[in-house]
Amino acid sequence: MGDAVVEKGAVLITGAGRGIGREIALRLAHLGYPLVLLSKTEAHLRETQALCAALVPSRVLVLDVTREEEIPILRECLADVPRLHAVVNNAGVGEWEDLETLSTAAWDWQIATNLRGPFWIIRETLPILKRQRCGLYVNIGSDCSLVGMPRRAAYNASKFGLVGLTVCLRTEGSAHGVHAAMVYLGKTDTYFRNHRPGSRSNALTGRDAAEPVAFVIDAYPRIVIEEISVFAPGEHLAGTRSLL
Ligand SMILES: NC(=O)c1ccc[n+]([C@@H]2O[C@H](COP(=O)([O-])OP(=O)(O)OC[C@H]3O[C@@H](n4cnc5c(N)ncnc54)[C@H](OP(=O)(O)O)[C@@H]3O)[C@@H](O)[C@H]2O)c1
Repeated sequence: MGDAVVEKGAVLITGAGRGIGREIALRLAHLGYPLVLLSKTEAHLRETQALCAALVPSRVLVLDVTREEEIPILRECLADVPRLHAVVNNAGVGEWEDLETLSTAAWDWQIATNLRGPFWIIRETLPILKRQRCGLYVNIGSDCSLVGMPRRAAYNASKFGLVGLTVCLRTEGSAHGVHAAMVYLGKTDTYFRNHRPGSRSNALTGRDAAEPVAFVIDAYPRIVIEEISVFAPGEHLAGTRSLL
């Protein structure tokens, strides 16, 4: 008698409508993970879902991670998901501006999306992962999680903050079998900051960026990879990672 086939648990991906999130979805679909695709724009999510449809079942959740009143929909959406393998906090935004002229609105938007959003997603899903006594958070960081850069005050603060949130989550989660990873990505050729794929030279492709994320998820729970940094060769942050 052969080994029983173990059904893979689902993976929730925020910002799955396009860019890196969509590529993570596609990579995980090829690996056979059922998906919960969360993002702001339904049309983008439906395109991602269509691309994964031949490979795995998926559901779409239109939700803005900056709006607290929308967060409880997530719990409803996950209620009949038999097992949640991982949660990827990928939705993120950036706007570069000198500190002196950075508006409060731009500051709030970046902190709300990149830091408070993951906090709410984690707060809502942590009871599920604890109950399972297994589950992985993968939080998407940046070179701006590791080094300060001019004109990135809000983005730097949000991405450094996400590291702090992740480290705390590890300390609270470990007794319950819950783990958390940071994946630090360098410049990636997506829609980020109103770019268009194809417009950024010396950058990772969305697919390049998705590869290590899927690797960390697929390795779990056999091994726990807590941190991984991925950069295009010219973007390599040699010698600047002394912070962590
Ligand atoms: N691109 C880079 O150079 C780079 C480098 C390092 C790290 N990162 C990080 O990688 C992550 C993904 O970025 P990306 O390059 O893939 O950007 P992207 O191409 O602009 O895609 C971002 C995705 O996040 C979604 N999103 C934005 N705000 C949201 C909100 N409030 N609620 C729910 N979903 C929201 C977008 O939704 P819509 O479908 O509505 O647009 C979109 O699907 C971010 O955390 C970013 O900080 C990017």
